[in-house]
Amino acid sequence: SSSQLLQGKRVLVTAGGTLERIDPVRYITNDSSGKMGFALAETASRMGADVVLVSANTHLSLPEGVENVSVETTEEMYQAVLNRYEKMDIVIKAAAVSDYRPVQQYKQKIKKSDDSITITFQKNPDILKKLGELKTHQFLIGFAAETNNVEHYALEKLKNKNCDMLVANDVTLPGAGFGTDTNKVSLYDKMGLIEELPLLSKEQISEQILKITASKLS
Ligand code: PMT
Repeated sequence: SSSQLLQGKRVLVTAGGTLERIDPVRYITNDSSGKMGFALAETASRMGADVVLVSANTHLSLPEGVENVSVETTEEMYQAVLNRYEKMDIVIKAAAVSDYRPVQQYKQKIKKSDDSITITFQKNPDILKKLGELKTHQFLIGFAAETNNVEHYALEKLKNKNCDMLVANDVTLPGAGFGTDTNKVSLYDKMGLIEELPLLSKEQISEQILKITASKLS
């Protein structure tokens, strides 16, 4: 069985979608529920790992035995992950991170007046890219949510962000991607495609990802 394949390993998983405030009552975010990241955290814990789950804006119950760090924004996730990075053996970035945030965060509620308004956004830090740059001993797993040219973009992200493995999901497929209990992913490493998995529950996908990871660590 796969029971204790990650015994003694320290694993950090990010889950959910970061959120960026516009004013005290409004924000932008994305459709991530956190299910993929929570399944990874729970599975890693069952396989014997010490797990930290950095979760953003999820409404799921925390898997038993997993340490949770709750964040809201990309900046908060960046700090939470970077502060813990050195101690980790495996880092899995399943969160959907806001690429941009409003330049200005209004202290007061924006009043309705003009027929159109403009909100200017600025780029957020790329957490995974930073982890790739700072990597010493960690096994770094990125995700890619794509709607087209999945393999091409997946391999590009793997390389640009210096990942050891990349999990690509085509979020246009029924039963895959955001919010669903199932997913359909392909796994890549620097040599190319490792495996194209069929439609499976997010728990089953997590088991496959972590079994392959364990085999690459030993
Ligand atoms: O949470 P669920 O509802 O279960 O949905 C699961 C999921 C679809 C969110 C998940 O399977 C998934 O694909 N997560 C990554 C989504 C994403 O943001 O992909 P991306 O292609 O935009 O980013 C690529 C990678 O870089 C990701 O690992 C992301 O965490 C990371 N990133 C992106 C931007 C940024 N500023 N910092 C980052 O670290």
